[in-house]
Amino acid sequence: MADPRKLYIRTYGCQMNVYDSERMAEAMGGAGYVETDSPDDADMILLNTCHIREKAAEKVYSELGRFKDLKAARPDLKIGVAGCVAQAEGEEIMRRQPMVDLVVGPQSYHRLPEMEAKAGQGSKALDTDFPEEDKFARLKGRGKAKRGPTAFLTVQEGCDKFCAFCVVPYTRGAEVSRPVAQVLDEARDLVERGVREVTLLGQNVNAYHGDGPGGDWTLARLIRELAKLDGLDRIRFTTSHPNDMDDDLIAAHGDCDKLMPYLHLPVQSGSDRVLKRMARKHTAEQYIRLIERIRAARPDILISGDFIVGFPGETEDDFADTMALVEEVRYGQCYSFKYSARPGTPAAEREPVDPVVASDRLTRLQALLTRQQREVQDAMVGKEVGVLFERKGRLPGQMVGKSDHLHAVHVTGDVAVGDLARVRITESAPNSLAGALA
Ligand code: SAH
Ligand code: SF4
Ligand code: F3S
Repeated sequence: MADPRKLYIRTYGCQMNVYDSERMAEAMGGAGYVETDSPDDADMILLNTCHIREKAAEKVYSELGRFKDLKAARPDLKIGVAGCVAQAEGEEIMRRQPMVDLVVGPQSYHRLPEMEAKAGQGSKALDTDFPEEDKFARLKGRGKAKRGPTAFLTVQEGCDKFCAFCVVPYTRGAEVSRPVAQVLDEARDLVERGVREVTLLGQNVNAYHGDGPGGDWTLARLIRELAKLDGLDRIRFTTSHPNDMDDDLIAAHGDCDKLMPYLHLPVQSGSDRVLKRMARKHTAEQYIRLIERIRAARPDILISGDFIVGFPGETEDDFADTMALVEEVRYGQCYSFKYSARPGTPAAEREPVDPVVASDRLTRLQALLTRQQREVQDAMVGKEVGVLFERKGRLPGQMVGKSDHLHAVHVTGDVAVGDLARVRITESAPNSLAGALA
């Protein structure tokens, strides 16, 4: 038999791209490819791209530029672009970078092996359809190879919310939820392969409404069902929209032991005027009340968020409202970005904020968020938490895992990858905690 060909995948963007890259590697495994971690000896290079901000999208072209020499030396090397830039720019990618052989959008991954067979030697393959067939059903099972203790599992994809700044509804398409049985099967497969923690993924994961026994299931019902799986010990989900946090999902944070005390709930801005112009469809006050209800159900929950500063029309007063909201919520983790105008979105037509002003606001917001994150992390010292160990640390005998609250925790002691142990936190460093087995 011929040696297997080698596939190198580089992944940008969100967790869903990480999940998609795994699925693409598995699909290409069926076509005789094994993964390699270097582009230098690859027979095929696949960039799984992100279009969310201009910088992310432009990175694709500079990356492609770096593969030019490889392609010149080995003309049979196939180069593919997948993900959200593929969806948004399609053929334009091949025009700007003629060495690209194939372009595949996020809804067409199941067609990748066929496309690979067609591409190369001067012929190109492009697929950015939103096909009728279910790509997940076509992608089949996830194989049986042993894997690490944590995994992503996409349960919902696409977005119908159309926030004024965001490309996701265009790159990922309309909201679609996977059927309950399909999700449960995939979760069982993962558990058999050694997974103890799954993170359910969706662009609007809490808008999940998959077909299940008796009709439509909510995310809360799906989580409660997953919690019955022996061997699955931890469940997380991301990303949620405030308007889709229903009562049962809030309650699940209080009564479902396997649901971890961490919630990523982006608000983007603390100013009602800006929220309205962003088309977020809720106020700052509604968001704060929602957080209070979630904390009533699970007092120690760690709240994480996303913010955009310098959205068109944002004034210093609007920004002060954002700072005030942050002070009130007390985030344990946060991501903040300078607004980036994206082609085809409504906000891209509006007068931009002076970039110097926007940068200054980002600096101030990040200083506050960093301080809060550190305070929340420092407050863990002295507490006992669950830690799922994921890898060896740098020091001899040291192991690293994630706490229930998703903090990285270093421990020296008799534990192995995949162990779930109780740990007493003893120290807080800038980006991680240290502790001792309890
Ligand atoms: N579905 C999620 C977010 C997906 S995008 C939600 O509804 O919150 C991830 C984050 O990128 C967003 O929360 C937002 O903070 C940021 N983002 C999206 N579009 C952006 C843009 N045009 N400029 C800057 N940041 C943006
Ligand atoms: Fe983008 Fe808004 Fe949809 Fe989130 S809810 S993916 S920010 S359009
Ligand atoms: Fe980026 Fe697409 Fe995810 S634009 S953030 S890779 S959904």
